[in-house]
Amino acid sequence: MIELKEVSKSFQSTKALSGINLIIEQGERIALIGPSGSGKTTLLKLLNAQHIATDGSLKVNNIEVAKLSPKQLRIFRSDIAYIPQDLGLVPSLKVYQNVLLGKIGRFRTLSMLRKILLPSKAELTAVHEILERVGIPEKLYDTTSTLSGGQQQRVAVARALFQQPHTILADEPVSAVDPARAKSLIKLLDQISTENNLTVVMSIHNIHLAQQYFPRVVGLRQGILKIDSTDPTESELEPLFDLAHTEEIG
Ligand SMILES: Nc1ncnc2c1ncn2[C@@H]1O[C@H](COP(=O)(O)OP(=O)(O)OP(=O)(O)O)[C@@H](O)[C@H]1O
Ligand SMILES: [Mg+2]
Repeated sequence: MIELKEVSKSFQSTKALSGINLIIEQGERIALIGPSGSGKTTLLKLLNAQHIATDGSLKVNNIEVAKLSPKQLRIFRSDIAYIPQDLGLVPSLKVYQNVLLGKIGRFRTLSMLRKILLPSKAELTAVHEILERVGIPEKLYDTTSTLSGGQQQRVAVARALFQQPHTILADEPVSAVDPARAKSLIKLLDQISTENNLTVVMSIHNIHLAQQYFPRVVGLRQGILKIDSTDPTESELEPLFDLAHTEEIG
């Protein structure tokens, strides 16, 4: 369970988030919406302790994140997968190597290097199984940069799964311009979340997709939580419309 109480985050003079109260139960799927600059990425980065709150309390499974030592923080982060807006893949590496990098937080650097350069048969089998689940097993040995954008998204999801996290945070990967691709990513995460009781929080620019595919929608505006609803109405969503990013889905 993730619990935020009166959480605020400032960057110098910019108040990115103010007084956020939110409880997320294990296994929930949440769409995080709001106009550009409303604080979505900041909130996701707080949830895996890439940022530390300026004020308030953030507990994950009853652990107060601000009180963790650097070593505890590393362990804490290794249980939460984060898919950044740009996917964060290394384009020149093979697909299986990018997937193996999901465990980077769990091993020492040297042992991680060994795994990536000389993976064991068991490790390769495990990666292959995960690639099967995300629908691209045939890409195991391909160079990541040769994959299509949608396939690279799947590699990023595979890497997240390989991490064996309790939570996946996804900062809507570049698909603001491609609703079809966003849709297929959402469906994949939906299936994976159901199979493994994983919590999924995904920032998404397209309000229609959020409404259609997520059981719960959380909406931010100017760093303030404006909506937290399992059935948001059009009039609630209206102020969170971001015309630059929202397209109709056919
Ligand atoms: N590292 C930082 N340093 C200074 N200001 C920041 C930093 N990160 C975010 N901000 C500011 O915090 C506010 C919220 O930014 P954030 O990136 O969370 O928005 P967002 O909702 O993810 O926007 P987008 O939809 O464009 O990705 C913005 O005003 C932004 O300029
Ligand atoms: Mg963002």
